[in-house]
Amino acid sequence: MLIKTFSFDQLEILSGIMELYAPDGFEADISYGNGSFYKNVKKPHYKYDINPQVEGVIEACSTRLPNLSETLSSVVFDPPFLTYVRQGREGNGKMIMANRFSGYWRYDELEEHYKNTLKECHRVLKKKGIIVFKCQDIIHNHKMHCTHANAINWAKERGFSLLDLFVLGATHRLPSPNRKGKQKHARIFHSFFLILQKQ
Ligand SMILES: C[S@@+](CC[C@H](N)C(=O)[O-])C[C@H]1O[C@@H](n2cnc3c(N)ncnc32)[C@H](O)[C@@H]1O
Repeated sequence: MLIKTFSFDQLEILSGIMELYAPDGFEADISYGNGSFYKNVKKPHYKYDINPQVEGVIEACSTRLPNLSETLSSVVFDPPFLTYVRQGREGNGKMIMANRFSGYWRYDELEEHYKNTLKECHRVLKKKGIIVFKCQDIIHNHKMHCTHANAINWAKERGFSLLDLFVLGATHRLPSPNRKGKQKHARIFHSFFLILQKQ
């Protein structure tokens, strides 16, 4: 089947990425969550999360991985993308998405986490190794934050180049909490998978 940059099916995108960039499977997933990426594809060898949810996942922060330098060929990173998540700091998040995926309060906290993880991935990856980086743009404080473009720039500053960019469309989203008044921005119905290669 032709591998395309757009799909509504996450599995189709992940299988395509695997076929193109990691035919033997991804080596590490550093924000494993409940492992929903791997329902129908090979699981990674190293499974890390700051808050392990399933058996076999090792507690580790994506900014301080237990692997030796320049030893991995591929890393999957699917960090939280939401801001204004109090739970991120104070443990009182109310949104379903926030509770499931966690998040940040301010956008600069997201930026710090993403940049420090790119730095750590640069350390553990071999030359030409790849990161499969899932991200989503957001509106924060009435301002559009084009996270996928920011992440590409932060990755380039760190010594990665962009090999491919996949867009995952969503057919539905959970309702926004307590939305009142007139809508000011379009609701975001897509996310990105960036393929970044260490130079
Ligand atoms: C969007 S979810 C991951 C989704 C995962 N791909 C799945 O489908 O279940 C984000 C994950 O990142 C983890 N996380 C948040 N901060 C982290 C950090 N500093 N280091 C490692 N994992 C982190 C969260 O615990 C959560 O499981």
